[in-house]
Amino acid sequence: MDAIVQQALVGAALNVRARAHAPYSRFLVGAAVLTASDEIIAGCNVENSSYGLTICAERAAVCAAVAAGHKQLVAIAVATSGGHSPCGACRQVLSEFGSAMEVLLIDADNPAGIRRTTLDKLLPDQFTL
Ligand code: THU
Repeated sequence: MDAIVQQALVGAALNVRARAHAPYSRFLVGAAVLTASDEIIAGCNVENSSYGLTICAERAAVCAAVAAGHKQLVAIAVATSGGHSPCGACRQVLSEFGSAMEVLLIDADNPAGIRRTTLDKLLPDQFTL
């Protein structure tokens, strides 16, 4: 990925993280997906007082991308305190739109230290119909 694009993608994930609605866990997550047409679309986690209704940041970003007309995703950046990896449910949802997409894991407390992986490594033998 182009360095400028990567910087924009990481910046979008960090910025949207500040908008997370996480009053219950206080765990803020920002995600930004890069579409095949080089657009960046972001999402944050949105918690609910009925805890199970919480929406993860990665899925929020995927839904926003699809609503904006994008179904081919080439990368995702995820920003958390600690640089955590997407949960299993999000991995499966991401796989629908880019089975081998690049995954950049950002520690919001040390944004320069990006961990890079790919979705096919995080979710081998993906379920498809
Ligand atoms: N969360 C995400 O946004 N993405 C993940 O991949 C795992 C967890 C959110 C859900 C909840 O708001 C908080 O992090 C703690 O689980």
